Amino acid sequence: SDGTLVPAVVVGTGYGAAVSALRLGEAGISTLMLEMGQLWNQPGPDGNIFCGTLAPDKRSSWFKTRTEAPLGSFLWLDLANRDIEPYAGVLDRVNFDQMSVYVGRGVGGGSLVNGGMAVTPRRSYFEEVLPQVDADEMYSTYFPRANSGLRVKNVDEAWFEQTEWYQYARVGREQARNAGLSTTFVPNVYDWDYMRREADGSVPKSALAAEVIYGNNHGKVSLDKSYLADALGTGKVAIETLHQVKTIRQRNDGTYLLTVEQKDAQGGLLATKEISCRHLFLGAGSLGSTELLLRARETGTLADLSPEIGGGWGPNGNIMTARANHMWNPTGSNQSSIPALGIDDWDNPDNPVFAEIAPMPAGLETWVSLYLAIAKNPERGTFVYDAAKDRADLRWTREQNAPAVAAAKSLFDRINKANSTIYRYDLFGSQIKAFADDFCYHPLGGCVLGKATDNYGRVTGYKNLYVTDGSLIPGSIGVNPFVTITALAERNVERIIKEDVTGS
Ligand code: FDA
Repeated sequence: SDGTLVPAVVVGTGYGAAVSALRLGEAGISTLMLEMGQLWNQPGPDGNIFCGTLAPDKRSSWFKTRTEAPLGSFLWLDLANRDIEPYAGVLDRVNFDQMSVYVGRGVGGGSLVNGGMAVTPRRSYFEEVLPQVDADEMYSTYFPRANSGLRVKNVDEAWFEQTEWYQYARVGREQARNAGLSTTFVPNVYDWDYMRREADGSVPKSALAAEVIYGNNHGKVSLDKSYLADALGTGKVAIETLHQVKTIRQRNDGTYLLTVEQKDAQGGLLATKEISCRHLFLGAGSLGSTELLLRARETGTLADLSPEIGGGWGPNGNIMTARANHMWNPTGSNQSSIPALGIDDWDNPDNPVFAEIAPMPAGLETWVSLYLAIAKNPERGTFVYDAAKDRADLRWTREQNAPAVAAAKSLFDRINKANSTIYRYDLFGSQIKAFADDFCYHPLGGCVLGKATDNYGRVTGYKNLYVTDGSLIPGSIGVNPFVTITALAERNVERIIKEDVTGS
């Protein structure tokens, strides 16, 4: 068959996708969302929806035989990973030759597995990265709209200052101060009031039970509880799960025809469907949307796509590192998995870095201070279509991360010097390694705004085809990216609905 025609299809259910679906639904447009992952709302045999971080099971990972945790080792021993059954779990690690990318799989995309840190970028850097976007409009309208739609909140500072759960952050702040560096509180979508009740012992623990990368059973306002709940509330939006879009073609009447594979949670193929639509919004993330368009261009189903598709990719300068503290400076055996402070050295002209003070919630004292540094790295990677594997391959070398490592090293050398401390070399795999430079959490780019698309995400060469997610941002934004992805999607979809959808 030629498939049923729906007015709008949104691929994926992450930030860009969720914003698009909500605003389409509010405009009265029937919208179908197609998500390759599962809806995470049913408890497993242990009574929890998600598995824990320290003893993960198959729910943790997207079709792996062993978990691939970012902090897999302690004293070079792989203590955190477990053999598991391949399953449609919530966290994926997509391994390319010299870079691995963590992404969320399920209704809510990355919001299911991320740290919830909701940071609005420095205006001056936003203007540098996306000069063609009206920053006045972004900072007066779309960033506030995104923060409110995402339910972003600030920690109660009085509670933060006295709780044992943030001792690690206070220690990190003191050590940064000793080096003349200042810190800033990081807003979050985690419900801080719920966290306080976790600390009181009056509700089940989630952030205070080390939950985050394999999902939070409580407390976190992921997209399924914010934008997507609102989208479903319009009565115009439906979500199909375990539906992966494989190919996109355009028919003579201008509508799009998608081939979609429906699977079961064990990976068995249930059906191959054809679904057609008038307006197609790609919100499959930097990896997903870029791969769909590359495949379409290279196999000729959308042959007029721009040569810019695949370009401008970067890991947002992500580098993890850790320091060893002195015996008299413990970071605490109780650590909230939700970071609350960042070291803000972005105005340093030589090595701008924003570094979150991250937890290492091992349940015992480790004397470790862990950080996720976000550096400014001008290097960019490119996706190319690998026909034999039918997938997008990332051209990015380890050396391209050297500027980010150098910037992080310059910051943490200062902190080590001021505190007479040293790096930990045992946490990032079996080698002796102080800087994790081979994985990232913040993939950005691949379909860059104003290059592969127009200034609003309309894909160059095709009508009624849009990119709405992190692939629009050219490789770097200087802070954790989901607030920017959300705000940009709000800006773009408002224009698109007005000019292309309700008008046509
Ligand atoms: P996103 O990746 O969220 O969603 C894409 C969706 O599309 C996924 O659900 C995927 O399964 C689906 N999909 C892909 N291909 C498909 C196909 N062909 N068919 C159907 N569905 C398909 N950011 C931040 O701001 N603060 C933070 O604290 C963190 N922390 C963090 C921790 C970890 C562990 C990770 C992995 C990531 C973060 N991030 C973060 C990054 C943040 O989560 C990320 O930038 C956003 O989720 C990206 O949003 P997008 O809308 O681009 O896609």
